Amino acid sequence: MKAVVIGAAGYAGGELLRLLLQHPDIERVEATSRSQAGKPLGDVHPAVAELTDARFSATAPADAARGADVVFLALEHGESSKVAGDILAQGPALVVDLAADCRVIDQALHARFYGPHPAPDVAAQFVYGLADIEGERLRGARAIAAPGCFATAAQLALYPLARLGLETAPALFAVTGSSGAGAQPKPTTHHPARAHNLFAYSVLGHRHEAEMLGMWRRWSGDERAAARLITHSGPFVRGIHLTLHARVPAGSAARINDCVRSAYHGRPFVRVLDRPPELTHVVGTNYAHLHAVGSDEGDEIVVLAVIDNLVKGAAGQALQAMNLALGLPETAGLRGGSVFPC
Ligand SMILES: NC(=O)c1ccc[n+]([C@@H]2O[C@H](COP(=O)([O-])OP(=O)(O)OC[C@H]3O[C@@H](n4cnc5c(N)ncnc54)[C@H](OP(=O)(O)O)[C@@H]3O)[C@@H](O)[C@H]2O)c1
Repeated sequence: MKAVVIGAAGYAGGELLRLLLQHPDIERVEATSRSQAGKPLGDVHPAVAELTDARFSATAPADAARGADVVFLALEHGESSKVAGDILAQGPALVVDLAADCRVIDQALHARFYGPHPAPDVAAQFVYGLADIEGERLRGARAIAAPGCFATAAQLALYPLARLGLETAPALFAVTGSSGAGAQPKPTTHHPARAHNLFAYSVLGHRHEAEMLGMWRRWSGDERAAARLITHSGPFVRGIHLTLHARVPAGSAARINDCVRSAYHGRPFVRVLDRPPELTHVVGTNYAHLHAVGSDEGDEIVVLAVIDNLVKGAAGQALQAMNLALGLPETAGLRGGSVFPC
């Protein structure tokens, strides 16, 4: 199969290239970039230098998609909406968008967090690709919106709670590494501002809350169900550490561990641990590590989750969704372990 990555010079694009170049069913990979056209891929992404001599092309997105089996969009927010319709018209078996453009199915939620959608007809062609939960339901999908990085960690922690019932809306406190902000330097990713620092951002309004709320309402069967995501920037490069806290009906907290374990029974990339997970143990991998505890009093729960924002939260999840959509083994090209210490 031939895969094309549009916007391949960014961090998510680079991770897609690293994984695609080692995927057993992908024979050809093309990478486009406006800023890096003509440069070897390995000059921009050292992780692929030993895997390919190919160079970035400046081919326009729809032209690059012609003849491709699968097209990945790793563009800045808002750009996919402009090009996805023309790409779909080229007839690839699958388009996977890593941006937020087509993730939020509820248009009212989309408008609340992002404003009116510029291309609702295009967005309507996409299904939400939370691979660890959707699994075989993604089989045959032609256009998949890959979830956001915070939203992935949040939803993996939230999903099992729909079976438990809650007394209060859950609060999800999450800390991300600086690669979550992309390859272009920003004041908040500058080393002196970030290296020994921790700060909240988008307080009471992070955009990933939109997709998280949409799915939480579907799972809980309550269209008014609430959940709050509180996001922070941490002093590390990769990964997200998330802590979910909620009150539960008296006496039900002891069930939380069984709920989480049964929700992910047989799922290849979600591990439920007997101890709090550590960020570095998943960095570079497509695995999510979870841990759940109920209070001794029986009315309070905590679920902890760690993922790599660029793999499980972006490129790895996108490939997992591709595997599922195209009927390939779900784990193809994704079994790699972490690098520790890192
Ligand atoms: N970083 C993460 O942890 C993460 C996780 C999940 C999802 N995502 C999503 O994935 C997308 C990419 O994120 P990123 O972190 O990789 O951002 P990034 O490092 O800033 O890269 C974005 C890339 O998009 C390219 N681009 C933008 N508009 C384009 C266009 N019209 N045509 C061709 N190329 C275009 C840019 O390359 P050129 O200027 O060279 O074309 C740039 O390299 C975003 O939508 C982001 O929200 C990121």
